[in-house]
Amino acid sequence: MMDSDFVHPLKVFDLAKSQRRFLYASAPMVRYSKLAFRQTVYEYGTDLCWTPMILAKEFNRNQFARDSDFTISTSGPQPPTIVQFGANVPLELARASSLVAPFASGVDLNCGCPQSWACAETLGAALMERRELVRDMVIETRERLRQDGWGVGKEKDINSPKGRSVSIKIRVHKDLRKTMDFITTVLGPEQDRHIDFLTIHPRMRSTPSSTPINVEALQILTDTFGDRVPILVSGDVFTLSALPFTSPLLASTSPTISSSSGGHTTTADTKKKPLVEIPKLAGLMSARAILANPALFAGYETCPWEAVETFMNKVARAPLPFKLTLHHLSEMCAPGMGPNKSTLITKAERAAMLNCANMVDLVDFLDEKREIKRS
Ligand SMILES: Cc1cc2nc3c(=O)[nH]c(=O)nc-3n(C[C@H](O)[C@H](O)[C@H](O)COP(=O)(O)O)c2cc1C
Repeated sequence: MMDSDFVHPLKVFDLAKSQRRFLYASAPMVRYSKLAFRQTVYEYGTDLCWTPMILAKEFNRNQFARDSDFTISTSGPQPPTIVQFGANVPLELARASSLVAPFASGVDLNCGCPQSWACAETLGAALMERRELVRDMVIETRERLRQDGWGVGKEKDINSPKGRSVSIKIRVHKDLRKTMDFITTVLGPEQDRHIDFLTIHPRMRSTPSSTPINVEALQILTDTFGDRVPILVSGDVFTLSALPFTSPLLASTSPTISSSSGGHTTTADTKKKPLVEIPKLAGLMSARAILANPALFAGYETCPWEAVETFMNKVARAPLPFKLTLHHLSEMCAPGMGPNKSTLITKAERAAMLNCANMVDLVDFLDEKREIKRS
């Protein structure tokens, strides 16, 4: 891989801004956001692709963990990739970041995972109570990358092929003042912040993902910090046309595309709420919705057949375990997260798909279904 294969994430933010649109990101998703999926969403307009969370300690110590947790493309375009780590020791995050820096555009620290095993080990969301530790982790990581020869000067290194980003993904606290303190500490000095950008998942650790995101908290946090650091939102980005807030950056978003899915339509959610304006938000990150519809950021309301085909082509070159491939396809063939609930195949057909025993069966099954829908 060549240095010129890498684009600085802050440059990607700038590019989106110059096009007067949000930056589009696919979320870190344990099990799912592996190379073939990242390549698929990249082909459909996603600007930055997160890996699943990788445990830094294991990654540093174990070659098998490295081989299985992080795969990159050695031929064809490498999507701008952010490697997310779970860590709670500065040296561990710094070391793991040093290992992946030659192969990724940036590294990210997960401060949002709510699972009890993670919190019990002070990983993920438990870090929301440890702001100094988070600050120390990002400072040590920057320093290690700088010593390794990477450009970690943020905007100063935006055009350098050696430029790399260090970022974090957080949740919010019940008392938003704690989140303000957290961000203030982690950002550090006004003129030389410790992180390149920030992703906010505006739910508390205890909030179920069925509860809508806290748009008011997002508005306050972006109003307060959005001029100092580019901010992405993670949560409820279901389609570009049905966001739970509004922004001047949506004005020039291209019209959404209804997929010619053949349409097994079920009930649509037509609830309308007045939308809060979030002018200082820079980007959108999607997890559940992009899993169901990798073409989301190309403006598709539901998953098109073409995206299934693209995914299968990517899987052929960057293989996934067969069961995982099936999981992905059942997500892509099921009703998505947006208001349009039409699907590529029926529920019964989906059940039949899950009975496919191997890739050959699966490819035949998909070809047959697609052919039937065409005719
Ligand atoms: C299957 C799955 C795996 C996830 N794994 C991670 C992860 O590894 N790291 C992380 O920070 N968040 C993880 N999340 C949380 C998402 O990145 C995201 O913040 C959350 O799902 C809200 O976004 P959504 O409404 O677009 O789904 C995961 C979510 C899902 C559904």
